[in-house]
Amino acid sequence: MIFEQIATEGCQSYLVGCEETGVAALIDPEIRQLDHYLGTAARHGLRIRYAIDTHTHADHFSAAAQLARQLNIPVAMHRASRVPFVTLALGDGEMIVVGNLRLQVLHTPGHTADSMCLLVEDRLFTGDTLLIGGTGRTDLPTGDAEALYDSLYNRVLRLDPATKVFPAHDYKGRSRSTIGQELKDNPRLQARDRAAFVEMMHNLNLTMPTHITEALRINLSGGKSVAQLLAEAAATVPFMSLAELKARIERADDDLIVLDVRERDAYEAGHIPGAQLLPRGQLELRVNDALPDPTRRILACCDFGRISTLAAATLRQMGFQRAVALDGGMKAWREAGYPIERGAQSA
Ligand SMILES: [Fe+2]
Repeated sequence: MIFEQIATEGCQSYLVGCEETGVAALIDPEIRQLDHYLGTAARHGLRIRYAIDTHTHADHFSAAAQLARQLNIPVAMHRASRVPFVTLALGDGEMIVVGNLRLQVLHTPGHTADSMCLLVEDRLFTGDTLLIGGTGRTDLPTGDAEALYDSLYNRVLRLDPATKVFPAHDYKGRSRSTIGQELKDNPRLQARDRAAFVEMMHNLNLTMPTHITEALRINLSGGKSVAQLLAEAAATVPFMSLAELKARIERADDDLIVLDVRERDAYEAGHIPGAQLLPRGQLELRVNDALPDPTRRILACCDFGRISTLAAATLRQMGFQRAVALDGGMKAWREAGYPIERGAQSA
């Protein structure tokens, strides 16, 4: 078995591949690591054939939908999942065949109703059902402490104690454990009585994960995160540095139109000398009047360099083939001590 564990902050993803046949499955992929997964698979001579989520994640952005689009592969989840882009719905006791490997599904509801663990040889990918020194929480959508008790005590913890545990999360840099070790050391597994376990789970008082709303929205729809939209836009436009722009302004580069895409009040409070105002919200509707010559070089700028990236990408889509974005924004421009002009746009 070819095995790679790829951590993104506290999230753990796993590439599990069959050496003999060169195919692999990716378990709990995270969106920011997409290129890393593809590179790792390529380095091992593996082709990823399945994207698998152990459950609907509320705390990170799943790359499953994107991988499915990009590689034309199925997204596998437990059939209790409400995720519409799942193309391989799995039931308890079923297996995914990855070359000569068998990934066996254990439905383990509790953290979420669609939680499952995957058993591959002596390794158990536990999702958020069993963590190292912890368990998944049960206070997020579809969580159920009673169900988690059953999943743990009647399923997972009955496996061979030597079974290696690979969770979907670890925030302390640990990469693996075993069932035996968790039975012995895991503080959440010391209350072996059902009522005590449920009461403990109900009284954890955990803070909500950051980005929970966006994560659930994306993971339940296959839609794109804000970061993804920005990354996609950034991939389609060239950038110009602050220093290059300053030098061009100083030598009065007539070829360049600096387009400030912020709102009017921000523009009037301070803009790059000679910049033309066209708020992003009005870009498409006013572009024909504001920018009559599509062959000109147009440099979009905003406060932080994000909206301007979207604006430059939109301009390129509309046929302004020399649209570029400022690498940075007005905040960095001001901090660099570069010249600022104030007031309304001169006619
Ligand atoms: Fe989770």
